Amino acid sequence: MPEIKQTPTASEPISNGATPHANGAESATLKERQTDAIPPQRGRYAHIVGWGYHVPEKVITNQDLEQIVDTNDEWIRSRTGIAERHVAADPKETSATLAIVAARKALEVADVPANKVDLIICATTTPEYLFPATACLIQDALGADNAGAFDLSAACSGFVYGLAMARGQILAGDAEYVLVIGTETLSRIVDWTDRDTCILFGDGAGAVLVAASEVPGGILSVDLGSDGSGGNTLIVPAGGSAMSTSLETVSSGMHYVKMDGKAVFRFATRVMAASTRKVLERAGYTTDDVDLVVPHQANIRIIQNSVLNQLKIPAEKVFVNLEKYGNTSTASIPIALCEAIEAGKLKPGYKVVFVGFGAGLTWAACALDWRTPVERQAAGWWKSTRRQATYSAAAARSMWKRAVRWVYDVLPDPETPGRDENPKEGPEMPIKESGGERIKE
Ligand code: UT7
Repeated sequence: MPEIKQTPTASEPISNGATPHANGAESATLKERQTDAIPPQRGRYAHIVGWGYHVPEKVITNQDLEQIVDTNDEWIRSRTGIAERHVAADPKETSATLAIVAARKALEVADVPANKVDLIICATTTPEYLFPATACLIQDALGADNAGAFDLSAACSGFVYGLAMARGQILAGDAEYVLVIGTETLSRIVDWTDRDTCILFGDGAGAVLVAASEVPGGILSVDLGSDGSGGNTLIVPAGGSAMSTSLETVSSGMHYVKMDGKAVFRFATRVMAASTRKVLERAGYTTDDVDLVVPHQANIRIIQNSVLNQLKIPAEKVFVNLEKYGNTSTASIPIALCEAIEAGKLKPGYKVVFVGFGAGLTWAACALDWRTPVERQAAGWWKSTRRQATYSAAAARSMWKRAVRWVYDVLPDPETPGRDENPKEGPEMPIKESGGERIKE
C-alpha cells in the first residue's frame, strides 16, 4: 500500500467531518452539510496514490500502414516520432473495457477498494455511447457503489482537466477518493484511408486514483484553457446535434476525425509552453526546479519545439513514449506517467508537470509535488483473490439488477391494467452485457 510520507495513511483519508464516509455524515441534515461544505478545507491536499494503464494487444507498425495508405516509415518517424500504435482489434475491446483494467490496476496500487471511491471522471473522445456515460459503465464494473460518475469532453486535454476537477472536489471536502481515467479507442473513429490522420492515433487507457491527504504537496496548481474559435481544426463533424447521423453523413465520412494538422501544430507549440509556465508560477516553481514533464504524446516535434526549445527543459527531464503508442488522446499522459514510474523516472519530492492540448481547442497543465512512494509492494495472494472476488460480486450484482429490471418490464403493470396485453415491438437495446463482463485482462 503506498503511503505518502508523513501521511497518517494515504489510503485512509483524513476524516474531517465533511467526508461522505465520515461516521454520521449520512445522517447530517442538509443545513449541516452545507455549513460543512462552505469553508475551504485547510491543510487538505490532493495526491495521486494509484496508477495503471492498459493497451490492446494488437500492434500496427508504420510498415503495416504502408500497406494501407500512401505513406512510409521514414515520413511518419521523422514528422511525428511514431513507430507503432496499439489498436482494439477485438470488437469486445472498447473504451470502457480498457478503462476498467487500467482503473483496477490503479486501485490495486493504492490498495483502496472500489467502494471507497467517491467520484469517477472518465475523460474520453471515444465514449461507448453518446449516453450513458462511459464512466457509469466503469463504475458498475468496478462495483464502485458509492461513486458518482461522469464523462469529461475536453479531447486530449481531458485527463488534466479531470485531475483539476478531482483536485477541486477533494479540496472542497466533497470527495476523499477520485478516479480519473483517460481512455480511447480512436481506431474506431479514424478514417483508415486518410493518411493525414490514421498514422497518428492509437488506443489505450490510463487511470489514476487521487486521494485527499493532510500532507502538503500533490496537485498544486492547474491551468485550463479553451479557444473554441479553432473548433473546426480538429473535429468529428457528424453524430451530434449539429449534424445527426444519416446515410449521407456516413457515406461522406463525416463520422471520422477531420484535422487541419498544421493549424493544430501551431496552436500546440504556442499553448504548451505558456500553460507550463503558468502552472509553475502558480506553484512557486521555476523551469529549473522541474524534475519531470509528462507532456501529451502527440508529436515529438511539438514536444521538442515547446518543452525543450521554448522552456529550455532538458530532454532527460521530459518523458516520451509516443514511439510505441502514437497519440492516444486522453490516455496519453496517464499511460506515459505509468511508464515513467516503471522506468524509475519519478521519486517522492519530484516536481512534475503534466501538460496537454487538443480539440476544442483546449489546453491544460498542472504542477505536482509528487509525494507517493513509487516502489511496488509485493502483492499478497489473499488481497488479489479478495479483489477478484469483489469484481466478480460486482458483475453478479450488475446482472441481478438488470434481471430485476427485466422482471419489472415483463410483469403486468398494476397502475395501467391491459397496457401489457399488446406489448410494444421495438428494436432490442444493444447493451446486453456490461463493460465488466466484456473485459479481457
Ligand atoms: O492531440 C492533438 C492531435 N493532433 C495533432 O497533434 C496534430 C498536430 N499536427 C501534426 O502533428 C503535423 O501537422 C502532422 C504530423 C499531422 C503533419 O506534419 P506536417 O509536417 O505538418 O506535414 P504537412 O501536413 O505539411 O505535409 C507535408 C507533406 C505534404 O505533401 P506536399 O504537399 O508537401 O507534397 C503531405 O501531403 O507530407 C505529405 N503527407 C504525408 N506523406 C506521407 C501528409 N501525411 C503524410 C503521410 N505520409 N502520412
